[in-house]
Amino acid sequence: EKGTYPHFMLKEIDEQPLVMRNIIQQYQNENHELVLDEEIRNALLKADRLYIIACGTSYHAGLVGKQFIEKMAGIPVEVHVASEFSYNMPLLSERPLFIYISQSGETADSRAVLVETNKLGHKALTITNVPGSTLSREADYTLALHAGPEIAVASTKAYTAQLAVLAIVAADLAKAKGKDFGFNLLKELAIVGTAMETICGQKDELEKIAKEYLETTRNAFFIGRNVDFYVSLEGALKLKEISYIQAEGFAGGELKHGTIALIEEGTPVVALATQSSVNLSIRGNVKEVVARGANPCIISMQGLNMEGDRFILPKVNEVLAPLVTILPLQLISYYAALHRDCDVDKPRNLAKSVTVE
Ligand code: M6R
Repeated sequence: EKGTYPHFMLKEIDEQPLVMRNIIQQYQNENHELVLDEEIRNALLKADRLYIIACGTSYHAGLVGKQFIEKMAGIPVEVHVASEFSYNMPLLSERPLFIYISQSGETADSRAVLVETNKLGHKALTITNVPGSTLSREADYTLALHAGPEIAVASTKAYTAQLAVLAIVAADLAKAKGKDFGFNLLKELAIVGTAMETICGQKDELEKIAKEYLETTRNAFFIGRNVDFYVSLEGALKLKEISYIQAEGFAGGELKHGTIALIEEGTPVVALATQSSVNLSIRGNVKEVVARGANPCIISMQGLNMEGDRFILPKVNEVLAPLVTILPLQLISYYAALHRDCDVDKPRNLAKSVTVE
């Protein structure tokens, strides 16, 4: 039920702080550590390489998850779009383990790969919001997202739940391998939840931004470097699927290799700046597009913010930044769709779960 909300999407965006708390509760042990079930941990530790398979938003979560797992636990990870996997199956490592990320657990493209890897005898873990779904039943192991039902076609709370669970996977494996990744995940996820709440309280400002940049535009660009690049892909997907604005997310450094040719007077460019190592270089990219007439909207993290930034995210651990960076992008997309009279919860040509290949 939507309750007092005009749309499920807005309700589900607002539920994200609560989902963070649920996940913390569900995954914590008696020592207040976020941990995996021992059987799942052991299966993951046996693998010499993890292969993440997913589609759409879940694929974008997989890209961030790869960074979490590689940087925190030092285990190599590949991420593949499910629909491409069978045509272009990579050379597998000796002991692969497949991770299927799927909100619904019913996506046909992902299931087709699972059927194939099951035939090959490889272990599979499904990360899903629907335990008992097809992908969950047909895999060896399941990790639940605990996000509650997601009704709007545009995935929001499932994405941040996927990131949180992937961070738990990374932290658990790191600990098992005796690696110190330098922060307390439970504490930092709680801070993320509070930061999400703060952003959800800034809807008026985000509606203003949506009106200013997106009410009449034909196209929009999202740029970021490092993990912000992956968030920019998700921001662009959100905007295009519900507002029908042609949107593209790309890596800041790729601008000069082609896309900058599309920048015209007034083209909206949303630039993400949450990573200290690339803060100056992404701002260099903003200067390049501004020189060609772009209308820049810089979203930065507190501590890295500079004069003229349009929206400042509350400070969270940099590794976990994607969990909060996506919220203003979800809300901007929501308001852009609303002001363009689009059917927010049920965009044209799309279904909530794509059960055909
Ligand atoms: O249920 P799944 O996570 O497997 O779905 C994958 C995609 O179809 C899904 O994320 C889609 O891209 C969303 N509509 C994005 O908002």
